[in-house]
Amino acid sequence: MGLADDSTKPANRRLRSRAWFDNRENPDMTALYVERYLNYGISLEELQSGRPIIGIAQTGSDLVPCNRHHIELVKRTREGIRDAGGIAIEFPAHPIQETGKRPTAGLDRNLSYLSLVESIYGYPMDGVVLTIGCDKTTPACLMAAATVNLPAIALSVGPMLNGWFKGERTGSGTIVWKAREMLAAGEIDYKGFIELVASSAPSTGWCNTMGTATTMNSLAEALGMSLPGSAAIPAPYRDRQENAYLTGLQIVEMVQADRKPSDIMTREAFLNAIRVNSAIGGSTNAPIHLNAIARHIGVELSLADWEAHGADVPLVVNLQPAGTYLGEDFYRAGGVPAVMGQLLRAGMIDGSVVGANGRTVAENIGDVQASDTDVIRPLADPLKPAAGLSVLSGNLFDSAVMKLSVISPEFRARYLSNPDDPEAFEATAVVFDGPEDYHARIDDPALGADDSSILIMRGAGPIGYPGGAEVVNMRPPVALIQAGVHALPCLGDGRQSGTSGSPSILNAAPEAAVGGGLALIRTGDRVRIDLGKRTADMLVDADELERRRAALAADLDYVPASQTPWQEIHRNITGQFEGGAVIELAVKYQRIAQTR
Ligand code: FES
Ligand code: MG
Repeated sequence: MGLADDSTKPANRRLRSRAWFDNRENPDMTALYVERYLNYGISLEELQSGRPIIGIAQTGSDLVPCNRHHIELVKRTREGIRDAGGIAIEFPAHPIQETGKRPTAGLDRNLSYLSLVESIYGYPMDGVVLTIGCDKTTPACLMAAATVNLPAIALSVGPMLNGWFKGERTGSGTIVWKAREMLAAGEIDYKGFIELVASSAPSTGWCNTMGTATTMNSLAEALGMSLPGSAAIPAPYRDRQENAYLTGLQIVEMVQADRKPSDIMTREAFLNAIRVNSAIGGSTNAPIHLNAIARHIGVELSLADWEAHGADVPLVVNLQPAGTYLGEDFYRAGGVPAVMGQLLRAGMIDGSVVGANGRTVAENIGDVQASDTDVIRPLADPLKPAAGLSVLSGNLFDSAVMKLSVISPEFRARYLSNPDDPEAFEATAVVFDGPEDYHARIDDPALGADDSSILIMRGAGPIGYPGGAEVVNMRPPVALIQAGVHALPCLGDGRQSGTSGSPSILNAAPEAAVGGGLALIRTGDRVRIDLGKRTADMLVDADELERRRAALAADLDYVPASQTPWQEIHRNITGQFEGGAVIELAVKYQRIAQTR
């Protein structure tokens, strides 16, 4: 798309913002609105010209370094909005920084969603640019756009440049999991540990691995909510500035065309995104967030869809943690369009879905090829043949997910090599009640973990550890690492960072804190995992489980005390991971923007 022919051209229909700025039936209120918005130097003629008012939801700040570059980028977005005939109004979004927020950033996604809904709904805007990036800023923005349903486009901030240490790529998060093992094994000291981890973050931008940030920004593009080719552009590249400008042009066209999130985020678009998630080796946080967005826009989407539509898609993107490369390499090789182009030509995604720019997937990316087939592999020569998520159930939980793409050959050899039962294994439970309990006891010799153990984390779900903690990928005790056991199976009701290469069973629902089966398991119980049958069970007979449940109900308060008002409110209104951990009462508010 290019510049508007006439940069002051009014919209071809009466816009929502005129209810504030040009309401002839209510001159009193219009005068009040107008005089205050004039305050920063905008003219009465501009406000009453009928030009689209475009909100820019600013998620970057000093508290959110991952998105901080948006403060610069939106200057170009404003220029795009202005050149296309719109007027930009920037406003702050509640900060969410994944690694800095205590007790967990998961707590803030729904809070940011709520405040974005109020801002977009309650102030004079005809469309909105959503500045996305760090893990939960993306779903918070898309969930709000879904509820309000004004024309909306996402602008990614982009990944950091590649990290390097002694000639090797060091990727966000992924290097932490490696470095903590090296520290535990005595291979590096504290200073070396910090140096190694810091090398992975050489510039502004989000995590450069295929963590939750790269995943969610890629899926925003796959859904059609950002411009084609936009997600992978590294934050400091000049292309990123240009993308910010083009996004500003596009949102004005979207308002003119009245192209809304409900026209873009259809069920077919979500199914495309599920398939893209498998092909990129996306984070286990993706089903939580995509299911949440779908619920707010009123599209049926369940964990069963993730398995039915995503499980047989090959992993083609060779990024850490499942592979080798990092964000700059992904962009150089073609980014999301090169992945979607392959999937489209193989008949694995729907090419008729319309994106933010009003063109179909087939029109946008139909002939895009990967320019480096080691970074984005051909479907015929993938990293893993079937890379989706597996959904398990049993007496431990109704649902939990496992990311098949990160099962290593070492893990397979240790646990999945019984010729009579190649998809199943049994292990002895070592149970932790929350991350604090884990950290206090993991290296205690009395713990009794050995190479036949499975580490269980409970009390870490959306209610138990409000918002859900990324703690299910647990390192084994130091003594075991020193004996050569670098990973144990892990299972729990928390989440895990998308940057972790651990094949954990996680996001278990219902969680222990609301009385799920995990509340009943005890250290020493045998656990059987069958990946073929998709089951996970504690091998404890039903009578014993009944006795434990009765004892539990009598003497255990599942939910620990809240430290802030929002923690308590969140615990009372939020559902389980399976349903996206959304504010349940919010789901009934759909497509609420109205022209008055
Ligand atoms: Fe913000 Fe990874 S911590 S993007
Ligand atoms: Mg994360």
